Amino acid sequence: MVNKITVVGAGNVGATTAQRVAEKELARTVVMVDVAEGIPQGKGLDQWQSAPIEVYDSRIIGTNGYDETVDSDIVIITAGIARKPGMSRDDLLNTNAGIVKSVSEQVKKSSPKAIVIVVSNPLDVMCYVAKEATGFPRDRVIGMACVLDKARYRAFLAEALDVSVRDIQAMVLGGHGDTMVPLISYTSVSGIPITQLMDRATLDAIVDRTRNGGAEIVKHLKTGSAYYAPSAGAVQMAEAIVKDQRRILPCAAWLEGEYGMKGLYLGVPCKLGKNGLEQVIEVELTADERTALEKSAEAVREPMRAVKL
Ligand code: LAC
Repeated sequence: MVNKITVVGAGNVGATTAQRVAEKELARTVVMVDVAEGIPQGKGLDQWQSAPIEVYDSRIIGTNGYDETVDSDIVIITAGIARKPGMSRDDLLNTNAGIVKSVSEQVKKSSPKAIVIVVSNPLDVMCYVAKEATGFPRDRVIGMACVLDKARYRAFLAEALDVSVRDIQAMVLGGHGDTMVPLISYTSVSGIPITQLMDRATLDAIVDRTRNGGAEIVKHLKTGSAYYAPSAGAVQMAEAIVKDQRRILPCAAWLEGEYGMKGLYLGVPCKLGKNGLEQVIEVELTADERTALEKSAEAVREPMRAVKL
């Protein structure tokens, strides 16, 4: 375990993330920060009181300021407003950019050595805002999105095939939006290529459902967006870092020439270890997948150009 993990935002994603971090005992202290008075304190106290039952010794603290967060090893940024039905993630752009910028400036001051995991939407652009505002190198500012998209894809495949989620291997790349690129050529079930187990029409429908996985949940909830799977994704990344697991997970990483692109965040296979982003892994893509990835990159560049830094 590390000494301290801070979760910024005590809304649904933030609070669920803090609880998962504590239950896995990834940090001695878990600090949950939010501007809303009383919310992080109340939720933090409630969570801490579940420790004797769930049996963990990570201490959860809720606060409105950054004093308690000083020298965090990892900071998970979930702050920002969530989507309502009919909104795209890009509709959140300037509101959340302002929030993520001010949070990142605080993180830079209070935890200059932290590894930052961004969860706020629109994800890829918020990673860019956090990188600019902290000035941290790319190995210490990474985004959680494709881990979630991949989990949705795996869940839908497991359900359709009536097999364990454990046996579904897959990769989803690209921006966190409806242009994301689930890679059929890298999807297998215990090593068996998915195309041997499922007809193309079913597979295409699952790919489509994955791309719209977030919106499907917003439509049900009406007042907000998903949080159980997003928090699980953020914590999977944090765990890989805390335990130096060197896991290969698809994360939003700042590209510096990989996949022939640079100067933007995009979901790509990453090796995560104690230094954060240890390596961006380049995989071979079919011509269609490459075109789809380029289209997805353009869908990230557009709001990047519009965002006020
Ligand atoms: C989703 C939101 C959180 O995909 O981006 O559910």
